[in-house]
Amino acid sequence: MSAIVPASTVPLIRGTNEPAPLHMPQLGLGTYKIGAGQVERVVRDALDVGYRHIDTAQMYGNEAGVGAALASSRVPRDHLWVTSKLDNPNHRREDALRSFEATMRDLRLDVLDLFLVHWPMADSPGIDLVDTWRTMIEILHSGRVRAIGVSNFQPEHLRRIVGATDVVPAVNQIELHPWLTQSELRAMHAQMGIVTQSWSPLGRGRLLAEPTVVEIAEAVGASPAQVIIRWHLQNSLVVIPKSTHRERLAANADVFGITLDDTQMAALNALDQGLRTGSHPDQIQV
Ligand code: A2P
Repeated sequence: MSAIVPASTVPLIRGTNEPAPLHMPQLGLGTYKIGAGQVERVVRDALDVGYRHIDTAQMYGNEAGVGAALASSRVPRDHLWVTSKLDNPNHRREDALRSFEATMRDLRLDVLDLFLVHWPMADSPGIDLVDTWRTMIEILHSGRVRAIGVSNFQPEHLRRIVGATDVVPAVNQIELHPWLTQSELRAMHAQMGIVTQSWSPLGRGRLLAEPTVVEIAEAVGASPAQVIIRWHLQNSLVVIPKSTHRERLAANADVFGITLDDTQMAALNALDQGLRTGSHPDQIQV
């Protein structure tokens, strides 16, 4: 099987409001729920078939396996994009710095491309979002991450951290797919210069049986997963579909020759019903 390199990238501010953008591959591998026993093989397969962007998190418990796959890969480090996330119990400064060191040790990296606050934890006693964001800025200034951002932040959370620090997150990674199009957050991101990244982009696989998706897939000669991935890409979203199967990994990345027309995009946009397949950010507390 020949390698398919997802060529498309999106420019990214560094979280320091500096002009020179980084370029983040628009398609990557999500590793949520890929267990420690399996993840090394999956990441190796993904790199083999052309993925250059791997998304993990301390909470997933699989960073060491991701690190082992990266270490054994022949892909040059500067061709790879690696994202990880600060775990929920570790928001306080000392904990966050320690947690970051553990992430770097497990991933076996000197420099991480993107480090995110995993959940806002806005209602957790003793945790202050602005303090957490200031610690992220400190980590950025240490030179060990190329960009910082957030995940699962709601509009009020973004307003608070940017209002207090003037440092705009490079990315907000949120649940996003045709059943949950997140138009309010996307409009805010566009205004603030934040890249929107979609987690559970296939609705945890449940969207693959959605009749509109299946119909469009038949019309364009692609799989339902490819159609949904195209929808994300054509909406300028950064997308991290997950699969544990090598053939699916390859097919999910082989989407740069497929185009959905305006009518097909509109039909997929119209599936929005505010349906979450994962937790609402307000439900997650320490
Ligand atoms: P599997 O790992 O068995 O391939 P999401 O990225 O939205 O969380 O969705 C991930 C889910 O979608 C997983 O259950 C994954 O199953 C499934 N999946 C991913 N790609 C495909 C595909 N091309 N065909 C069928 N199922 C897929």
